[in-house]
Amino acid sequence: MWAELLPVGRSSSGGYRRHAWNSADAECRAWFEQQATNRGLTYELDRNGNQWAWLGDPTAEGAIVTGSHLDSVPDGGAFDGPLGVVSSFAALDELRDRGTEFARPLAIVNFGDEEGARFGVACIGSRLSAGVLSRESAYELRDADGVRLPDAMERAGYDPAAIGADGDRLRRIGAFVELHVEQGRYLTEDQPVGVASAIWPHGRWRFDFHGEANHAGTTRIEDRRDPMLTFADTVLSARQQAELAGALATFGKVAVEPNGTNAIASLIRGWLDSRAADEAVLTELVEQIRQSALRRGERDGVRVELTRESYTPVVDFDGPLRDRLAKRLGGVPVLPTGAGHDAGILASAVPTAMLFVRNPSGVSHSPAEYAEQADCLAGVTALADVLEDLACQ
Ligand code: GLV
Ligand code: MN
Ligand code: MN
Repeated sequence: MWAELLPVGRSSSGGYRRHAWNSADAECRAWFEQQATNRGLTYELDRNGNQWAWLGDPTAEGAIVTGSHLDSVPDGGAFDGPLGVVSSFAALDELRDRGTEFARPLAIVNFGDEEGARFGVACIGSRLSAGVLSRESAYELRDADGVRLPDAMERAGYDPAAIGADGDRLRRIGAFVELHVEQGRYLTEDQPVGVASAIWPHGRWRFDFHGEANHAGTTRIEDRRDPMLTFADTVLSARQQAELAGALATFGKVAVEPNGTNAIASLIRGWLDSRAADEAVLTELVEQIRQSALRRGERDGVRVELTRESYTPVVDFDGPLRDRLAKRLGGVPVLPTGAGHDAGILASAVPTAMLFVRNPSGVSHSPAEYAEQADCLAGVTALADVLEDLACQ
């Protein structure tokens, strides 16, 4: 399975460009459907473009669901997402080899557009299903080329007419367990597998710095309204404020208009990703960065606008389920994460837990992301053990 997925959507950087509804995403989706069919599982595409593979009755109550996502950030690694989906199929194979008799339906899910690389909002598939993102808001989302989300979906051969909250489906889920590569070198102990305790609150904010386009060779310094200065100062300030707050602030995406070497920019758009252990700290941090941008904007003659594009509150995973997993796995480490996940979205509607597989370098969202094969296999066995525990009673 791993070898089949490895070349799909790989760019010359060695990283992946599997973005919502692009051709690599279509290949990943075809792969998922094939895996379901190969195993005689019932394949389903839900109204929000999430894929499901069912062992047992999809309409029965109390299903145990596992899975993750197959899309990537721009030039992302091979593991973030696919490790969870591949491990889910492998765990099911292991359980069948063990002769496990299931008392409940078991499903594997591939949530669409987890990374939000194309439309700017992460976890679109699970957010829509959980009703956290409304159909109306989703219809307004556009990619960098101005393509609307429903049009992108339609072009990929999917029907966007029915997207929206899918409460009945979520109500039939007894528990959701997502296995994921650990993303920050926090699993350094002897164990290759850990259980998640919480997800830090996090969000994405777009800063628009409006200046004035002008000639780079003839405009006197004192006559300039250069938004690049305000942007640069805001990036430095964000880093400084985040350090002071013990939190995180990252500008990883920027768009410049008109983007000419010999022209002062008219507009800079910079996307801030910010995260903290505590919601109050996060709110305060973003406000400080905004204030700092406004102050600098005044000095530069640049108008600053701030738009919150997405926000995920703190997620504390279901306590009894978390403890049950940790106990079943023999007391593995229980740790929080700063990374967002579909599991974090589902946690508002369904008892949810996560397993992490050790990442020796801690690198993620990069082609260098890596996990040892032995650790991945330990993850499969751990997932199988947990699913057996949950689905057999
Ligand atoms: C998703 O991986 C995120 O944490 O942004
Ligand atoms: Mn990710
Ligand atoms: Mn992920």
